[in-house]
Amino acid sequence: GVGWYTGENGYLYCDNLKVDDIRRQVPDSPFYMYSKERVTSNFNAYKKALDGLKYIIGYAVKANNNLIIMKHLQQLGSGAVLVSGNELKLAKAAGFDPSKIIFNGNGKLPWELELAVDSGVLINIDSEFDFENIVVAAKKVNKVARVLLRINPNVDPQVHPYISTGLAGSKFGIRNTHLQWFLDEIKKQPKVLLVGVHSHLGSTITKVSVFSDAAIIMCDFIKRINAEGFKLQYLNIGGGLGIDYKHAGDALPTPTELIDTVRSIVKEMELTLVIEPGRSMVATSCALVNTVTGVKTNGNKSFVVIDGSMSTLIRPSLYDAYQHIELTAPSSAPKQVFDVVGPVCESSDFLGLARELPTPKPGDGLVVHDAGAYCMAMASTYNLKMRPSEWWVSEGQLKKIRHQEALEDHVKLFEGL
Ligand code: LLP
Repeated sequence: GVGWYTGENGYLYCDNLKVDDIRRQVPDSPFYMYSKERVTSNFNAYKKALDGLKYIIGYAVKANNNLIIMKHLQQLGSGAVLVSGNELKLAKAAGFDPSKIIFNGNGKLPWELELAVDSGVLINIDSEFDFENIVVAAKKVNKVARVLLRINPNVDPQVHPYISTGLAGSKFGIRNTHLQWFLDEIKKQPKVLLVGVHSHLGSTITKVSVFSDAAIIMCDFIKRINAEGFKLQYLNIGGGLGIDYKHAGDALPTPTELIDTVRSIVKEMELTLVIEPGRSMVATSCALVNTVTGVKTNGNKSFVVIDGSMSTLIRPSLYDAYQHIELTAPSSAPKQVFDVVGPVCESSDFLGLARELPTPKPGDGLVVHDAGAYCMAMASTYNLKMRPSEWWVSEGQLKKIRHQEALEDHVKLFEGL
């Protein structure tokens, strides 16, 4: 099998390896465990969906910045979507082709813009001041900046408000009512070349029709802009495809269904389609593997306490996100409803609420699924829970892909002070 599944013997597997066997070999707990094959197949699903179009798959590095995973995606032919100068530096270290890199963000700093223009990556204009900073950066490094205008199509993606980004009142993108100002200013700047438009609706999208709604609006903008003498090449429709976090067997749209909603308009207008998937590229490849510390009851509630916490994986605490939880081994113990919590000193420290599980024993393995996106990338060292190690199955073998962070790494920040 590829990825995460329960074998006929009732044990949990990651590719060909039994998770309980992996746990015996990995000295740390908790740890992030990936299927390299699953990352590959997620990427290939996009590649296949885009067949017949001109395109850039820009992997959104914010979802997971493990350098080994980034290198792997780069080798598969992926581009990269970045939101900071450090992400740009890491993407260059991973070997991404600058012509397939897009630099996004509503608060890009002067040094980041200089690096971006100098590296020849595509840059989104997010506001009036951002445009002015791009002009300054282009003059300073004496190169032409290739830019896209980030426009809010004002399409509601129907997701959690924290991750909805394409509405008119969003902190991202330009004021549409000010489009003409941008076009007039860009025309005056020989060091700025407008090559496309960008929109990003939000994240965890489960209805692909919102992408075609947005694409139609964006193509109208392209026509309007081209009527002013520009010749736009790129339509960037952002990222945002959701995944089946519930594991309830709900059929979620595939990359093919997503791309097919915009295929004809992209072809007709002879555009290069840019997409920016993060979550749908990496989330399903990984689970956080924890060890049960103990089980307790308070009032009318029962808790499974594990060694992983909101420091290791914050999405449930931060967004009320559901990530599926199960034990790594079959069990005939009576089932009970538990809150699965960590050792961090606050009540928001939970990985799952009201989950029915066979009552586990201390030392048992418990995984939090779909942990490949926005989990390790958002991990902190709160309570000095140092960031965990990462591993993957590659060609059937267990391999470490990131060291466990150590307390010494923290202590080092105070050396000589
Ligand atoms: N492009 C832009 C401009 C974005 O802002 C994002 C995500 C993406 C692409 C990638 O979206 P994806 O395909 O991963 O949905 N921390 C939150 C998610 C924040 C998403 C931010 N922007 C979470 O854990 O759910």
